[in-house]
Amino acid sequence: MPSSAAVFDHNASMRTFVLRARAAPTDSRALLVGIGSEAHPEILAHALMNAVFVAQAHRPGVIVHLVLESTPDYSRAIRFDFDAMHDIGGFDERALLGRIAQALDVSRGMGKDEARAVESGVEVRTTGFERLVQRLAADHALYVMDPKGRPIRDEPLGDRPCFLLTDHIPMPKNTFHTLDRLGAKRIALGPTMLFASQCVTVIHHELDRALGPASVTRD
Ligand SMILES: C[S@@+](CC[C@H](N)C(=O)[O-])C[C@H]1O[C@@H](n2cnc3c(N)ncnc32)[C@H](O)[C@@H]1O
Repeated sequence: MPSSAAVFDHNASMRTFVLRARAAPTDSRALLVGIGSEAHPEILAHALMNAVFVAQAHRPGVIVHLVLESTPDYSRAIRFDFDAMHDIGGFDERALLGRIAQALDVSRGMGKDEARAVESGVEVRTTGFERLVQRLAADHALYVMDPKGRPIRDEPLGDRPCFLLTDHIPMPKNTFHTLDRLGAKRIALGPTMLFASQCVTVIHHELDRALGPASVTRD
């Protein structure tokens, strides 16, 4: 039974995260050698890890979109549908960044707004953050993570919640206007500025606490 005073919809057990990685390179080699650099591609691995893995198990119903925007041609949006992946692999940075690098390699030479399958459950598309979010708005309730937003426990979450985050580079003001037009709500996780990957853990925690213990799939 829900244990929180907040009102959460049943479909909140489906969880979608979009991480806009403004500094992350779309070149796979630059991504892999960039760990610890200004670009901080490790943020992507940490977000994937916290989205799907728990101790000795993983969470069903989680989808993550990573949008890498440091590019000479088009941004890359990589979609991970973990339920459809045969083998998620390890949760270390090397393994997770390896999956992202593989998707970037598959996307080489693609034209604007094309999509390619990378492996079961993983797809790469040459599209930007705003276009992706416009698509998601059709069948998700959008939430932009913002420390100045409404506390998550006060916000009734709608069907298929989709949480929008950035890396260490803030979301441009214009994007907020677009998101407002799409009906995205700004929600906060407390007064401390967290890493995007930490937000993912706290969001799961808030949903778990509202919906009861998470059902997990044992590894
Ligand atoms: C490291 S923060 C981004 C920091 C960036 N310099 C900025 O000012 O937006 C990464 C992501 O986590 C979100 N975030 C961090 N702490 C948060 C909090 N307490 N509540 C809601 N979102 C938070 C931010 O909105 C952002 O999407």
